[in-house]
Amino acid sequence: MDFQELLAWADQQVLAHTGKPLDDLQKAILRGTWEREKYSDIANSYHCTEVHVKKVASQLWKTLSQSLGDGEQINKSNLRSMFHRWQVSNLSVFSRHIGHIGNVSVCGNASHPLEFPKQQQSDRSPSPNKSKPHIDRSEAPDLEYCCDRSHELDTLKNLLLEKRTRLITISGISGMGKTAIALQLLSEIEDKFDYIIWRSLRGSPTPETTLKSLTQFFSNIPQNRKNQKEEEQLSLLIEYLRNNRCLIILDDLHKVLEKNKLVGHYQPGYENYRNLFQTIAELSHQSCLIFNSWELPLEIVDLKNKNAPISCLELESLGKTANKILEKEGLLDQEKWSELINIYGGNPHWLKIAATGIQDLFGGRVGEYLQYKPLFLGDELIVILKQHLTRITDLEKQILLQISSQKEPVSISWLRESSDRSNSDILNAIRSLTKRSLLEKIERQNSTLFTVKQIFQEYLLEQNLST
Ligand SMILES: Nc1ncnc2c1ncn2[C@@H]1O[C@H](COP(=O)(O)OP(=O)(O)OP(=O)(O)O)[C@@H](O)[C@H]1O
Ligand SMILES: [Mg+2]
Repeated sequence: MDFQELLAWADQQVLAHTGKPLDDLQKAILRGTWEREKYSDIANSYHCTEVHVKKVASQLWKTLSQSLGDGEQINKSNLRSMFHRWQVSNLSVFSRHIGHIGNVSVCGNASHPLEFPKQQQSDRSPSPNKSKPHIDRSEAPDLEYCCDRSHELDTLKNLLLEKRTRLITISGISGMGKTAIALQLLSEIEDKFDYIIWRSLRGSPTPETTLKSLTQFFSNIPQNRKNQKEEEQLSLLIEYLRNNRCLIILDDLHKVLEKNKLVGHYQPGYENYRNLFQTIAELSHQSCLIFNSWELPLEIVDLKNKNAPISCLELESLGKTANKILEKEGLLDQEKWSELINIYGGNPHWLKIAATGIQDLFGGRVGEYLQYKPLFLGDELIVILKQHLTRITDLEKQILLQISSQKEPVSISWLRESSDRSNSDILNAIRSLTKRSLLEKIERQNSTLFTVKQIFQEYLLEQNLST
């Protein structure tokens, strides 16, 4: 008698009674009980509450007891002995049935797969073919990815595959490569998931629309359950994330965040995204949601503080690997490239725009381009910078201008002295600007100083001169 035999038997019984195979928590309960663990230990290793484990276990014992007949009752303390008795009394049937059951691998002769009665087979949710995950990337773009971000990719892979993080955020200023790295990640790990879905929030879909589109993708969810209320749709989604290994990617989350407010607030009518993220981070399942955004919503910090299995990756400068972009664009004066990369914050999109301008106006000579002050940024980039600046509050704008006008980084006390706004207003605004990646923090001799990201300084300077 071994555990795999028990698992195979339990899977068959649960399937016969509920139409669904064992889910991960039920398997964890069986394994824990088999190894004589307490419910509290099972709850700990499954990252859920003991009450929840007890509830699921009680239902599981009830279902398994029904298969014994004769009023026999299975419980935590007699599972082994009851199963043994059942095995002895059903020996001939049982030995034919050891094989591969659903996604539960069992020992024995795989050439004798368990034959479910026809009715049960058709009730069963189609389990995705392991070698071919179900992927919907119809809303994902195709992007170039030539500069190495292997360090960030390794971090993401470790979070997804080793740490089983449930919610991952990839943040960073526009053009930094959030979408590109998520696409690259997908191409490297897609075989590790049963289902992968990519949804763009560029058109600001409501949380209800997004939730509906996710549940619709998981086509195993019966048709008659697809039109349910949001709360029910959310629990359906979680049910699915629990029973399958799914990866959801939501791109451009900042499109549903509020403008002209401090960082991290949802637009009115979009607050239920908070509920979606909280639920995915807090409830136990085997899947992951990744979102890309310029900014993080407020609840993310709170969830991190609560030790939920979530992680945040902020994409920063490509550094000297951005040379590849400049090389591809055919730029000259290689000794000036690091200066150019620094000015553009190592941002691949902005560097591509700069390279085109340098080709058009200076025949690719970077040295000549850098001589002209303020720097020529070009309309294409200005449109992007303006998009960032139209999101911020008036006080944030005022602070950006104040800091930009200084040659050296400034301290909080300098800002407080040069403004008539309250302490907390100023501190909140600085924090918000830092989170939006518009301000950079510099630690110097026991003090924290702030400076405006160089490309925004160039833009604000250019604006000032032209007005
Ligand atoms: N590692 C990379 N190597 C080469 N090019 C890259 C890399 N990462 C991004 N790019 C290019 O930079 C541009 C911007 O990338 P991407 O769209 O991923 O940025 P983003 O951070 O998602 O921007 P946004 O927030 O505006 O959506 C694209 O043209 C992309 O091909
Ligand atoms: Mg993007």
